Order: sequence, then C-alpha cells, then structure tokens
Amino acid sequence: MSVFLSASPALSASAAPPTQAELLDFARRTAADTALIASLPLDPEGRTWVRLEGPGGSEAWLIGWPPGAGTGWHDHADSVGAFLTARGELKENALAARLPTDGWKTLELSEGVDRERRLPAGRGRSFGRHHVHEVLNESLDEHAVSVHAYYPPLPRIRRYSRTGQVLRLEQVERPEDWQ
Ligand SMILES: [Fe+2]
Repeated sequence: MSVFLSASPALSASAAPPTQAELLDFARRTAADTALIASLPLDPEGRTWVRLEGPGGSEAWLIGWPPGAGTGWHDHADSVGAFLTARGELKENALAARLPTDGWKTLELSEGVDRERRLPAGRGRSFGRHHVHEVLNESLDEHAVSVHAYYPPLPRIRRYSRTGQVLRLEQVERPEDWQ
C-alpha cells in the first residue's frame, strides 16, 4: 500500500506536459546561458538552428536571425510554445483571433485583429494552440538570437500567405521541412 501511494504522485508528475509558463521559463534560463548563445553559428545569408533538449519532452531550438530574416505567417497546429529573444531584437506580428482548425483555404480577417510586439533581448512570450504569427528581425545590421520551445514536440507548421486581410493556407510542413 505504501509503495503504491508513494509511486503514484511521481508517475503523475512525470506525465504532466510542460505548461506555457514552464516553456517560457526554459527559454529565459537558456537565453541567460551566454556561452551557449555565443556558440550558435551565425550566417549572414539565412537563419541557423541548433536543437536543444526542452523540458518535459518538449522540442526546443536556438535560432539565429540575420538582419531582414523572417518566418512568414504560420502556426504550430496543436502545439503550445514560447520563445524569447536572447540577443538583438525580434518583432512578432500575430493575430488576436483563434482560427478554425481545418476545412478552410482562405479566410478574411476582421479589422483590428493584428497585434505587434517588439521583443528586445530578455523579452519573450508564450502562446497557446493555433497561435498564428510571423517573427522577423527588422534590424538592418544586427543579428538576433532566440530560444524556442514547443510541446508536443515536432509540431506541424501550417504556412499562410497574406494579402491585406485575406489569409490563405499554403501548405502544412513539419519542422524538418521548415528548416
Ligand atoms: Fe512560430
């Protein structure tokens, strides 16, 4: 009986998925590791990646962004996540609306749905499922480095194009393609 009682909380604790707050906390702690951040190879022509071990079985990445680099509009399907700028500054354009998951190809966004955030070093955000955004380094001369974590790992990435208020689903990718 005592064995059962002591084993049970440990099992449930290890099975609990990481929360958005825990993913953001991981990103913050990782971004403070200056040796790790400095170890990321940087390429003036494009983004660079190093895979990290995220908390609770999450998928984590260190990403380098040369000036002008951006992701384009996308979401992470059913994964939640967090990211935080470790160096330089990133800008996030996001939609405040939660979009229908499936069954549409183009969607007309209502006015006022756009949100803009500037994330200088040390600032980040977490997000829930179906969060639609694009992330950019708008600097003309400074590289940015950021830490990202997603759970569940290996999220699908849905890519969108956007013309004015019209969002069009272009393709569904896995992160292997996305790199
Ligand atoms: Fe993203």
